[in-house]
Order: sequence, then C-alpha cells, then structure tokens
Amino acid sequence: MKVTFMLNGRAVSYDARPDEMLLEVLRREGWLGARRGCEDNNCGACTVIVDGKTVLACATFAAQVEGRSVTTIEGLGDPANPHPIQRAFVDAGAVQCGFCMPGMILSTKVLLDETPTPNLEAIQDALDGNLCRCTGYVKVYDAVQRAAAALAAGEETT
Ligand code: FES
Ligand code: FES
Repeated sequence: MKVTFMLNGRAVSYDARPDEMLLEVLRREGWLGARRGCEDNNCGACTVIVDGKTVLACATFAAQVEGRSVTTIEGLGDPANPHPIQRAFVDAGAVQCGFCMPGMILSTKVLLDETPTPNLEAIQDALDGNLCRCTGYVKVYDAVQRAAAALAAGEETT
C-alpha cells in the first residue's frame, strides 16, 4: 500500500505494509531524526508531530498518518539555520549524546506552541515521556525556558 501525507511541509507517498509502524517507514525513507529506541512506547526517542500533537512513531501505524501532516526534527531547522528551540538546547548545554534530542525538541515545540510561557511543572509534564540517560534533565528544563524566552522575544520560528 501507499501512504500519502505531508512530511515537513511537502507531500510524500511512501510504500508501507498495512501493519508497518510509522517509525519504520520514516527511517527507511531516510528520516533518521525519528530515533529507534525502545520500540515499546517507553522512551520517547521516536517522537514526531502529527497535526500539531506529539505521537510515538513506534506506536503509530504508518497508515494512520494518511492525509495528515507530520513533522520530524528535520522539519525544524538544520545546523546552519537552527530553530530557536534547537539553539536554546545547545546554548543551555542540554545536548550530550543527543540520542533523545529530536524527541525532546519536538515535544518542546508542541508545548511552546500551546503554552508559550510554561512553568516548570508544565515543562516537566510535557517532557515526561522523553527519557534521557545523560543530562539529568535540569539543563533540558533550562533549555525549554530559554527557548520560550527566545520565541517570546521574536526569534524566527519554522
Ligand atoms: S522508540 Fe518509540 S517510545 Fe521508544
Ligand atoms: S542527551 Fe543522551 S540520552 Fe539525552
């Protein structure tokens, strides 16, 4: 079967088995920012945005995104032109091995789209499903607050 959807702002049509997960399809097509972690709904490394909400790509059938809008980390920015959230994570020293970062940053994007000035509890809730082995989370929370401030100050968004 073919699954046709918007991916990072452009229409794509990818082959997928009826029982195939979105994570598999994305990675096969080269979108490696959707990370393969636990593949069991637990780590958040595979987080992507579908129609403005975070979903776990390892727990979403590819067929479920037919006609929908999907954003992976590749849709936010790149090293030459990072999104303000990406810049904030680097500036805060919140990026260590980086494995969890696509999911962390996409969860942050949805949080700040919905709640531009979140308190610490809201940040912790929003990132509750994104596990990180490296940072201890304190710098991650600082990064989200920096990102919120940057966006409120009008830094360019994608
Ligand atoms: S790989 Fe999807 S939640 Fe861990
Ligand atoms: S930076 Fe290494 S898992 Fe989060």
